[in-house]
Amino acid sequence: MNKITVKDIEVKGRRVLVRVDFNVPLDEKTGDIADDNRIRAALPTIEYLKDRGARVILMSHLGRPGGKVVENLRLDTVAGRLSQILKQPVVMAPDCVGPEVENMAAAMKAGDVLMLENLRFHGEEEAGDVLFAQALARLGDVFVNDAFGAAHRAHASVSVIAEYLPAAAGFLMEKEVANLGKILENPARPFAALLGGAKISDKVSMLENIMDKVDYVMVGGGMAATFLKAESYEVGQSLVETDMLGTASHLMELARRKKVNLVLPVDFVVADEISNGAKTEIVPMAKIPGEKRIVDTGPQTIDSFSRELQKCKTVFWNGPMGIFEIPEFAGGTQELAKLLAGLEAITVIGGGSTAEAVGAMGLVEKMTFVSTGGGASLEFLSGDKLPGVAALPDKE
Ligand code: 3PG
Repeated sequence: MNKITVKDIEVKGRRVLVRVDFNVPLDEKTGDIADDNRIRAALPTIEYLKDRGARVILMSHLGRPGGKVVENLRLDTVAGRLSQILKQPVVMAPDCVGPEVENMAAAMKAGDVLMLENLRFHGEEEAGDVLFAQALARLGDVFVNDAFGAAHRAHASVSVIAEYLPAAAGFLMEKEVANLGKILENPARPFAALLGGAKISDKVSMLENIMDKVDYVMVGGGMAATFLKAESYEVGQSLVETDMLGTASHLMELARRKKVNLVLPVDFVVADEISNGAKTEIVPMAKIPGEKRIVDTGPQTIDSFSRELQKCKTVFWNGPMGIFEIPEFAGGTQELAKLLAGLEAITVIGGGSTAEAVGAMGLVEKMTFVSTGGGASLEFLSGDKLPGVAALPDKE
C-alpha cells in the first residue's frame, strides 16, 4: 500500500485520534458483545501508539442509530472489553465532540486511552459534515485511520477529517488493503470465488470485476434462488430478488463468455419456517416444494464444491451457505469452513457474517486472512476506490 502509515509519523506525546471500526455484533437478548474480533484486530495499532507514548483517542460507530442517542448502542461495553484486553483503564467520554470531551483529551497522559461515544449519535457523521469533522479534529494532533470495515463510507470521521489533520493508515488498514489487493492483482490460480448470503444485489459489481481473474464462481446460500429462478426453476417460498433476474442471467452469460466455471447448487436443505427446531428436508435443486424455502445448501452440492475447491490455489469466500445462526441450517456453512481451514491454498474470508461464522468455529487462525470488512471488502474487490483509503496521503 502506497500510503503513509502510522510508522511514518511522529506520535510520541501527541494526541492520536484513531478511527477504529468497533461496530461489533451484539447479542440480541443480553446486549453482550457476540464477537470481539474487530476490537482485537485494532490492537496492533493501539499497542504501538501506547508503547511510543502517544495519547490514544479512539472513535467508532456502533450500529445505525440514525443521528440520535440510542441507549443500547453506547460504546461503554466496547470500552469495557478493550480495557480487559489491554489490562488498563479505557476512559469513556460522554460524547464524541464538544468542550467537555476536548478537556478530557487535553488532560490525557502518555499511554492513556480514551474512547469517544458513538459517532453516529450525530447525524453529521454520516452526512460527512465539515464542521463536525473539524470538531473531531480539534481533539487530536494527528489522525490514524484503522477502520477498514468503514472505509467504504465517506463519513466525517472516515474521510473528511483527513483534510484537517496530518493523516496516516493504521496497521489493520494496511494489512487489509495488502491482503485483498493481492487477490485482485496477482492471485495464484486456479482461483475460486465462493459466494453465499441472501442477496446477489450487493455482489454484482464485485462479480463483474473479478470475472477476469477467477476460474470458478460457486454460488450457494439463499442467493442461489435468484440464479435458479432466472433459469426458470421453481424455488418455493425462497427469497428471490425479482429485479435482479436479468442481472443473474447476465452474470451467467458473462461467466460463459469468460470461460469461468459458474457452479450452482444441485440440492438444498429446505424448511417450512425459519426457526430453531424447524423440520428440514433435503431436496434436489429442481424439486423445491412450493410451500418450502431454501435454508441451507445441500450435502451433494457441498461435496461437489469441495472437489473443485481442492484443486484451487486461491479461494475468496463471502456469504454463508445457509442461515447458519440456526443450528439446523448451519451444516453447509460449517462443512465449507472446515474444508477451507484444511486447504493448502490462500484462503481469504470476506468480513461480516462469513467472518462471524469462521470466528464462531474457532477457525480464524487456519485461514490465510479473515477481513474485518463486510461491505468494505466487497467494494474493494469491485475495484472501487474506498473513500477512507483515498483520503490518506500517499508516500512520497
Ligand atoms: C460494517 O459493519 O460493515 C461497518 O461497520 C459499516 O457499517 P455500516 O454498514 O452500518 O456503514
